[in-house]
Amino acid sequence: MWKLRFGMAWKAVMLLLVCAAVTSAADFGYGVQRGPGTWARDYEQCNGKHQSPININKMAVIKMEYPKMNYYNFDLRPKSVTLTNNGHTVLVTMNFTEGKEPRLSGGPLKIDAVYQFEQFHFHWGENDTLGSEDMINNQRYPAELHVVMRSLKYPDFASALDQEQGVVVLAFFFKVVERPLNPYYGEFVEMLSGIRGKDSSKNLVEPLPLWKFLSTYSTRYYSYIGSLTTPPCSEEVLWIDYQDAIYISEYQLNLFRNLTASDEHLKNNFRPIQNLNDRLIYENVPKDNLQTNWMPPPSAAPLTSSLNVIILLGIAMSVLLKGHILAAF
Ligand SMILES: *[C@@H]1O[C@H](CO)[C@@H](O)[C@H](O)[C@H]1NC(C)=O
Ligand SMILES: *[C@@H]1O[C@H](CO)[C@@H](O)[C@H](O)[C@H]1NC(C)=O
Ligand SMILES: *[C@@H]1O[C@H](CO)[C@@H](O)[C@H](O)[C@H]1NC(C)=O
Ligand SMILES: [Zn+2]
Repeated sequence: MWKLRFGMAWKAVMLLLVCAAVTSAADFGYGVQRGPGTWARDYEQCNGKHQSPININKMAVIKMEYPKMNYYNFDLRPKSVTLTNNGHTVLVTMNFTEGKEPRLSGGPLKIDAVYQFEQFHFHWGENDTLGSEDMINNQRYPAELHVVMRSLKYPDFASALDQEQGVVVLAFFFKVVERPLNPYYGEFVEMLSGIRGKDSSKNLVEPLPLWKFLSTYSTRYYSYIGSLTTPPCSEEVLWIDYQDAIYISEYQLNLFRNLTASDEHLKNNFRPIQNLNDRLIYENVPKDNLQTNWMPPPSAAPLTSSLNVIILLGIAMSVLLKGHILAAF
């Protein structure tokens, strides 16, 4: 009898402890009470030396020509696209047939490393002067999209954290345009009113492939080693910040600003700039300066090589013609 009661009490205590841990772990925010300045109390790594976001000073980057980046399955339609208001952001998850998940290799990534899509989410501000996390030349954009990918060397996201380049984040800035509305964000932003409150979620009626949510061109980017910008602030994350912005209208952006977290509006969900310390920032400057878009390598590669063939043919033709003309005289 005593044993049983003790057992039950013990279970109750354990349950309380677990609940307390879960509550405090989930409870971070962007206000005064639980804002970024307080994160390191519960998450030591938020005080690290290689944190994100950072300011990218364009004059102080190291220009490089990285190998071509390979985007696989970015153009495949997922089975479903789920939008969730988790109280910190709009979290987007996609359900793919196994083996058809978007994958990434090449560029600044470790040789032979392949990364798989996990989720994407957004950071935004209450007006157009703020919202992005990374800054370029001390300039903030009104919003930023993060595509989070995990190295296939690790079985899941949690075990990829803190591992050298275990996680890659593809970052895209938003630019506000008067018109037209970004057609790929049409259904997406209208769906936001259905997930206005924390912990609500909805599926898109039309599940669009990943690349439709990104910017058009993918060859110009910055890259550096940083961290997750939310607790637990794990480091060793490789960041790739694309220079080509995603266009969105003020109307579409306002629908993000109308989301709520607990009882407050969910906005200004960006972390302040962190010190660069001993880190270097690289910029990929492709030599040919041909802008390749998101279509995957199988279709993109022949295009590039046929272009080369055309150029070569052109050169050969002009040489031949010159010879012919000379011979004629
Ligand atoms: C993904 O799709 C499969 C099969 O349709 C389903 O069983 C699974 O629950 C889905 N997962 C999510 C996260 O929606
Ligand atoms: C934008 O919002 C920030 C943060 O509240 C505020 O400081 C700033 O004055 C606002 N700017 C404009 C142009 O409204
Ligand atoms: C914001 O949400 C409220 C409540 O659902 C709604 O009445 C209002 O029209 C929304 N504002 C915008 C800009 O959609
Ligand atoms: Zn993010």
